[in-house]
Amino acid sequence: MTYTSVASLRRDFLYHATAGAGVIATGAAVWPLLNQMNPSADVRALTRIDVDISDLQLGTQLTVSWRGKPVFIRYRTEQEINASRSEDVSELPDTNPRNLNVTSDALASDENRSVQGHEQFLVMIGVCTHLGCVPLGDGAGDFGGWFCPCHGSHYDTAGRIRKGPAPENLHIPEISVSDDMVLTLG
Ligand code: FES
Repeated sequence: MTYTSVASLRRDFLYHATAGAGVIATGAAVWPLLNQMNPSADVRALTRIDVDISDLQLGTQLTVSWRGKPVFIRYRTEQEINASRSEDVSELPDTNPRNLNVTSDALASDENRSVQGHEQFLVMIGVCTHLGCVPLGDGAGDFGGWFCPCHGSHYDTAGRIRKGPAPENLHIPEISVSDDMVLTLG
């Protein structure tokens, strides 16, 4: 697996944790590289973190470090939501929602992938399900979602694998959102 030579594909990821850490790093596209840059063992050790998403802007993504992995929090546009909802779920490469917040026999519909009650938000572990690189966001790839440059996996606007070697949709951790828009991971 290649972990280098991705500078031209970089995106700025904003790393933010509410446990007093604030902005802790900006980084590149491959998680092992990011992990070296930002060991942040105290943050990784936390099993549950709160993230204030009240200021997140429409059409942008916040990336936080949680349990040693990046988590993408995207405030999706109407266009992104509509694109996801127009797909026939039964035709997808992975019909499992890979979402710890829904039952295991559910399908990978947009509703079963997004934050329940706040469907404009999508929260996913930012680790490619092929061999673990960090996909690029901001509408990257052939389906307007995320693209993993390591071996060419394309994810759609609901984080579902659509093309390439990754076998599964991006995984969704246990999440909840309070009335004042604080997202809890774990
Ligand atoms: S790690 Fe191989 S395509 Fe993402």
